[in-house]
Amino acid sequence: MTVNTTSEVAQGFTSAAADADRSYDPRLAELARRAAAAGTVLLTNDGVLPLSPAEPVAVFGRVQIDWFAVGYGSGGDVNAVYTTNLLGSLVEQGVAVDAELASTYRQWCNTQEPPTEEWGNWPRFYPEMEVDEELVSAAASRARTAVVVIGRAAGEDRENVLEPGGYYLTDTEHTLLERVTAHFESTVVIVNSGNVMDLSWAEELGVSALLLAWPGGMEGGRAVADVLTGIAEPGGRLTDTIARAYADYPSAGNFGGQEFNNYAEDVFVGYRYFETFAPEKVLFPFGHGLGYTSFDLSQAHLDAASADTDVTVWVRVANTGPRPGATVVQVYRGAPAVGTLPRPSRELVAFTRTRVIAPGEAQEVTVSFPRERLAAFDDDGRSGHAHAWVIEAGTYPVHVGTSVRQTIEAGAVVVEETEVVEQLQEALAPNPAVPFDRMTVARDADGRARVGWEAVPTATVDLRERILAHLPEPIEPTGDVGIRFSDVVAGRASLEAFVAQLDVEDLAQLTYGDVEMNSPLGAPGNAGAFGGLTEHLRALGIPPVITTDGPSGIRVSAYASLLPCGTALASTWDEALLEELATLHGQEMLRKGSDVLLAPGMNIHRDPLCGRNFEYYSEDPLLTGMAAAAVVRGIQSQGVSACPKHFACNNQETNRIYNDSRVSVRALREIYLRGFRICVQEAGPFNIMTSYNQVNGQWAHYNYDLVTTILRGEWGYRGNVITDWWMRYAPDPIFPRLQDSATRVRAGVDVLMPGGVTWSSKRADGHDDAVLAGYSPDDTSGEHLTLGELQQTALHVLRMAATTPAARAAAEA
Ligand code: BGC
Repeated sequence: MTVNTTSEVAQGFTSAAADADRSYDPRLAELARRAAAAGTVLLTNDGVLPLSPAEPVAVFGRVQIDWFAVGYGSGGDVNAVYTTNLLGSLVEQGVAVDAELASTYRQWCNTQEPPTEEWGNWPRFYPEMEVDEELVSAAASRARTAVVVIGRAAGEDRENVLEPGGYYLTDTEHTLLERVTAHFESTVVIVNSGNVMDLSWAEELGVSALLLAWPGGMEGGRAVADVLTGIAEPGGRLTDTIARAYADYPSAGNFGGQEFNNYAEDVFVGYRYFETFAPEKVLFPFGHGLGYTSFDLSQAHLDAASADTDVTVWVRVANTGPRPGATVVQVYRGAPAVGTLPRPSRELVAFTRTRVIAPGEAQEVTVSFPRERLAAFDDDGRSGHAHAWVIEAGTYPVHVGTSVRQTIEAGAVVVEETEVVEQLQEALAPNPAVPFDRMTVARDADGRARVGWEAVPTATVDLRERILAHLPEPIEPTGDVGIRFSDVVAGRASLEAFVAQLDVEDLAQLTYGDVEMNSPLGAPGNAGAFGGLTEHLRALGIPPVITTDGPSGIRVSAYASLLPCGTALASTWDEALLEELATLHGQEMLRKGSDVLLAPGMNIHRDPLCGRNFEYYSEDPLLTGMAAAAVVRGIQSQGVSACPKHFACNNQETNRIYNDSRVSVRALREIYLRGFRICVQEAGPFNIMTSYNQVNGQWAHYNYDLVTTILRGEWGYRGNVITDWWMRYAPDPIFPRLQDSATRVRAGVDVLMPGGVTWSSKRADGHDDAVLAGYSPDDTSGEHLTLGELQQTALHVLRMAATTPAARAAAEA
């Protein structure tokens, strides 16, 4: 018997579109185009953009044709109804593209198919056409402006790397840029990449404009053409800091480990580090992005009347430039004057987009945020309140602006006495057997912050005791009393009464998905099913629930819309736009037979090399949480559901299925779990997917504190939790009679997806039997799984299944 690895499965699964139906919703396409333009980030512009109408433009780089519409892996593997590229889109819009150069590239690209590779070995770049001086100078005699496109892609099981063609330019690309910038009056460089790459060359070469075009899905080429011509504004603002050099990132020394990574930078992720300790190492600050007009922010003030009300910030945003435009107003907490908890000197606490403001006009912008966004998490009691969110007494300056750097002060919130916002308990702390040091703020003699180090607080909790003290009470079994699932969905019977009818086999079955991807119970090419998988469960009225990937489109055998990647969406900082797009996407899910989209991907951009950064949103948890919540709200408004993933700390692809993310409780609370919490509490997703990796020594899918203590206990999550595709099998470290899926169910992870075969199975077909093997009807001590635990899992799964279109239709019939 073999246990599938994700790579094997995913390779086998990748399928060409099976039917010829390329129909799509034009409203979705139109919105995708708008969102891709709104997520395009203009980093520098000396005035060359937007291009003047009728001005001839010479376009260099093969990626103008071989455009990267999406990254690699489950998150990008959509049979797109169509894709667009830059050259075609510029021509479509009537831009005076230099025809001779375009034809040279077309001919060359025709003979140089982009390399295609197996799962996990995809090309990070496409070898570039050699361009000699002669060709460049000839083109420069026909056009004053050049556009050069550089492309990169990474993905699932495919980290970006510190190599030419990865994080760095290849020699051919560098030569191309050198020659073009030397010969042309103006050079616009477009970086079409899902990852931040080295951009130090842009300064060196003196480019006229630098544009980040994240993989924008099927409309990405058109969206960038819209931006170049000025039909659309480049609406994006950076969701990550771009450093001068990779080594400057605070994660750099602790990323890519095979066995583990110490998250030694602690809460000082991205701009939290740079703004506190190393502002000079920043090439482009978090939140930065230019439009085609300029804004002046003035008259900022705030109201923080009492501890019980939100903090409200006002600012006047005047359009001082030549064109109508909108901007993103960002509000940051500054460094508090006193306190025992080391604080980053800036933290995003709120943001909003302005309306489109006409030249010479202004908008009074009001933005409010809950006071608890001033709080920090105390994981060792130094503030006097261990395991609590606290706002320490002090003065909290509030800055408002258009990036983390471009701000004015709106005033300060003065906190007279330390406030405990939320008293929690220790959970998920690092293993004392493998301690590490974490970053903290030390001070120079002149009071300037510099990096200090301290020992990370480690776990002291007896998890065994905690689990045994919280075993759920069983519901008295009744046997079949005739309640059907449709009675529950229609409100004629309670879910508890329905579950009371299920025997142990039914209950155990509900904790497994349908063994393989591409379940015959759903649309061809689905990612797997759970719920009503047996005849008996279906006879009771429980439908099979069909899952599909996500996030960039619906991954089924049929054609589907390919949408802008996660980073592109978050770069819009526009929750309303994301919700609208996701609403139309939810409608497409209904048409394609997807009940659950395995999306949004919402891990933190801890390091620029993470292969799946394109699927994820940001280095900032507030922006991540708000973007994810908007997407979940949109999808779920259509009667289908979302499945935010990967909970938690799946911040690299290298050895992701074994790797241990070792991270302090404070960093978990403030950074890595916070986005998920916001999403859960703002949008109520019906599903959550755990990650493959371990968090402080325990796999996420076996992690009781992660899923039961925190997600369900503290955040009040009532939905379904599923594993990432094929979890790791392992003995239970605490309860010797449990292993594999029994440990999973005890942790509160409801469904093994898509189902499983295990080395430990005693069944002839090798199917995972650990739940039944771990259950004993006579043992209520907790050494075995209890009836209450199985029933509780069923409640979670069925509460979710009750929301599906099939369940609702049956209830209405
Ligand atoms: C990925 C998930 C994905 C799942 C199903 C896994 O390898 O990590 O993000 O949803 O496969 O395709």
